[in-house]
Amino acid sequence: MPDIKSEEFISGSGMRTVLFVDDEVPVLNEIQQLFSDDAAMRLLVASSGEEALKIVRTEDVWLVVSDTHMPGISGIELLERIRHISPTTGRILMTAHADLKTAIDAINISEAFRFIIKPWDNDELKSIVNEALERSEVVRELAHCEEGTILSIAQAIELKDPYTRGHCDRVAEYASTLAMKIGLPEESIVHIKQGGWLHDCGKIGVPGAVLNFPGKLDEPSLKIVRRHPLWGAEVARQADLPTVVVNMILYHHERYDGSGYPYGLKGEEITLEARIVTIADVFDCLRTQRPYRAACTNDQVRKIMREMSEAFFDPHLIELFQAIAEKVLDEDARRAATHHRDLAGQGSRHA
Ligand SMILES: [Fe+2]
Ligand SMILES: [Fe+2]
Repeated sequence: MPDIKSEEFISGSGMRTVLFVDDEVPVLNEIQQLFSDDAAMRLLVASSGEEALKIVRTEDVWLVVSDTHMPGISGIELLERIRHISPTTGRILMTAHADLKTAIDAINISEAFRFIIKPWDNDELKSIVNEALERSEVVRELAHCEEGTILSIAQAIELKDPYTRGHCDRVAEYASTLAMKIGLPEESIVHIKQGGWLHDCGKIGVPGAVLNFPGKLDEPSLKIVRRHPLWGAEVARQADLPTVVVNMILYHHERYDGSGYPYGLKGEEITLEARIVTIADVFDCLRTQRPYRAACTNDQVRKIMREMSEAFFDPHLIELFQAIAEKVLDEDARRAATHHRDLAGQGSRHA
């Protein structure tokens, strides 16, 4: 088998470590060649599942990319075992035969993040690995997080999408205010704050070019964007966050009438906490400038929220949210008026 150089283990500690597992030596050589110019990554290789398990037990591996068909432990079984040994390690399955059963097993048994078909495209493989490493970074931080860390992770993700800067923070604030208003217990409010901060954390998997595209997205790009609740929930699940938080991330684009995504859930099939975050999310989205449209005026926000409330929101919750929304919009209007007055004052001084 190709040798794993011992100095790689020593010099690479703390680095983004990726382990490739394949019983075919030429494949591993090719992979090593492909990633040889990436100084930020530590690459380890193993030619069997058994060997890979030994490495995962002793090394801090961020991501495993495994072949499916190998003598001894199969790729699916290997990834499943790694899921238990090291839950924050990302898992990608590679296969030469893209049959449905393997794909389903990859998702259900080993909870693999991605599925790569051999022969791979070099650029695509590199970008999948990089994307998976970014996710691993988030998962690893979330796994040891305190409240402040969750917020800073949410903010880091927002940087990818500059138009939404501050969005997660505001969503957390509006959602927790609504939760207090309906009298949810302190513990739920803490969770709702976390869900608000993290609801869009799956955007880590959406390429910046798609997020910041200044026009209408085509169907394939929309498909990618629509996966962000699934990706986000997976990140939160891997980080062992409470199920209630995972579900807020997973369901924040579901709509009360069943027209949302990813599952098209209806009414109370959507968890209460997710229904709360949805209202806060839409309200803040409308008030923020997006790459594809300007921010709505206060009157437009009121009108659109009213129109959406019929079908999209929990009717009881949206009714209670009115007063919270009005307070925010009033403060906005007051701030804008002061700003204009200041500008006018400056103008007259200069005149
Ligand atoms: Fe979202
Ligand atoms: Fe959002």
